[in-house]
Amino acid sequence: MTRRKIAVVGLGGIGGVAAACLSLSPENDVTVCARRQIDTLTFDHHDDTSRIPLKTLTDPSLAEPVDWVILSTKAQDVASAAPWLDKLCTPKTTVAVLQNGISHEQRVGPHAKGATVLPAIVYYNGERLAPDHVRLRHISGHDLLVPTGPQSDAFAGLFEGTPIDVGISAEFLTYQWRKLLVNVIANPITALTRQRLGVFQRADIQDLSLGILREAVAVGRAEGAQLRDNEAEAILETFLGYPAEAGTSMYFDCLAGRPLEIEALNGAVVAAARRHGLPTPLNGAMLTLLTAVSDANAAGTDTP
Ligand SMILES: NC(=O)c1ccc[n+]([C@@H]2O[C@H](COP(=O)([O-])OP(=O)(O)OC[C@H]3O[C@@H](n4cnc5c(N)ncnc54)[C@H](OP(=O)(O)O)[C@@H]3O)[C@@H](O)[C@H]2O)c1
Repeated sequence: MTRRKIAVVGLGGIGGVAAACLSLSPENDVTVCARRQIDTLTFDHHDDTSRIPLKTLTDPSLAEPVDWVILSTKAQDVASAAPWLDKLCTPKTTVAVLQNGISHEQRVGPHAKGATVLPAIVYYNGERLAPDHVRLRHISGHDLLVPTGPQSDAFAGLFEGTPIDVGISAEFLTYQWRKLLVNVIANPITALTRQRLGVFQRADIQDLSLGILREAVAVGRAEGAQLRDNEAEAILETFLGYPAEAGTSMYFDCLAGRPLEIEALNGAVVAAARRHGLPTPLNGAMLTLLTAVSDANAAGTDTP
């Protein structure tokens, strides 16, 4: 049996869970490309804990071409992962991008040496409990969603027999925008207020959220997403049912003083709005404020 050569780039919550699950299939030959050596990954799923041996590389110059790359860094780290892509990719490779936001092809394509870029929506929760310890939580429905296309079935096949359920949809663009809509309120508002989702119980925060969402819905529709007339209200209502004590990744990154994924979220809305001549002052404000926070975090200058 020829095993599928797979490289997972970025061993955080999402990449850790993907690497653990992919390693469960005997048909996959998995290498992890990370910034630190990790030989065994502890993987929690439901009430089970398993210890999964990993083949890890920390030096991009030692990487070799693979059939599949699972790119699971944050969006702002794609450029820093370019040396990995340079060694791993050929025109026969497919790079599945497990990241929030839209425009995955534009973000990753320039670094992928002619490889096919396959965007994936991540619905599962991947929590990094320690650098070598991750937990998978299923949220609802599929764990990953990819668009209908030549690589979709093969991508779903990588996860066959593992806990990750992969969906394939011709309505991918619409689902991508729905996910983005949740992210353009959840992430910036929790990060700026330094409060968990409970902050959305405030009436003033709900008003602000609706304003941000209505701008983004208009842009999503102009981009071709099939969003409903009451999409903004429906997203907010669903969102208010989420646990008040839950945080978001931008909230945790903000508290930890790390760079933020704002450009890929509200930044993507603002960039798409520009293409259609649509106004997005609230998304623009979120982008400006959080870019300033992110830049200060990156420079280590946001200290009292
Ligand atoms: N976590 C979730 O539940 C969840 C859910 C839905 C969507 N998402 C999205 O999924 C994506 C990944 O999120 P995440 O939560 O897994 O992020 P994360 O926990 O911050 O993990 C990102 C990983 O990428 C690594 N990395 C960054 N630059 C790298 C480089 N140049 N070379 C090698 N590794 C590099 C980081 O390494 P270090 O450890 O060395 O910093 C880190 O381990 C994001 O777009 C996020 O928005 C996450």
